[in-house]
Amino acid sequence: MSNRLRIALTKGRLQDQSVALFERSGMDCTPIKHPGRRLVHSIPNYPLDAVLSKAPDVITYVEHGTCDLGIVGKDTIMEKGGSFYEVMDLGFGRCRFALAVPKGADFYGTYKTRVIASKYPNVAKAFFVAKGMDVDIIKIEGSVELAPILGLADGIVDIVETGATLKANGLVPIETVAPISARLIVNTASMKLYKNEILDFISRCEKELKEAQEG
Ligand code: PRP
Repeated sequence: MSNRLRIALTKGRLQDQSVALFERSGMDCTPIKHPGRRLVHSIPNYPLDAVLSKAPDVITYVEHGTCDLGIVGKDTIMEKGGSFYEVMDLGFGRCRFALAVPKGADFYGTYKTRVIASKYPNVAKAFFVAKGMDVDIIKIEGSVELAPILGLADGIVDIVETGATLKANGLVPIETVAPISARLIVNTASMKLYKNEILDFISRCEKELKEAQEG
């Protein structure tokens, strides 16, 4: 294989699990595990360079073709959208989008327009549009659980993993909006130009995920 592929990895938890997957498939990820201040890392025994970035930037780099591949959560894909191939559910980073309200609140039992706070306004909007429900959506950047506590919103649409954050703030999930997990995405032109290299990479990941499932 002659062409080196470039992959954008979401920094943090997904980065660690991506690296673990690569290592199980025989890639030497020492440079990614000891990054220092460096942001681009070459895998010495496989034609792949890894870029570490924030989740929305993973999509931007893959869309623009500066990265051929990306690993990013379905949450970011749903919120940001974009033009790329979503080729594989990697199975890790599992959590869900949920609608949560203050404990005891009768969210659906009123005719007044409900206010929803979310870090993911597009996801929240699509959820309520599909229900045919008119809601006001307020974008929050930080801890969205604060919005109902402070009386700004009737409910939130947010990521729930263990449910501990909701519980600690007197909120209960009343509906799952969508399941979330890490996805492998591919630039549309790269898929044609570097088909063999990309298929090799995908089949390595698939093999490892299958073995882990059977495991
Ligand atoms: C997410 C989400 C909740 C928390 C839920 O935030 O916004 O606050 O995780 O997790 P739990 O159900 O296990 O309590 P995250 O930690 O991803 O940080 P963020 O605020 O930077 O999105």
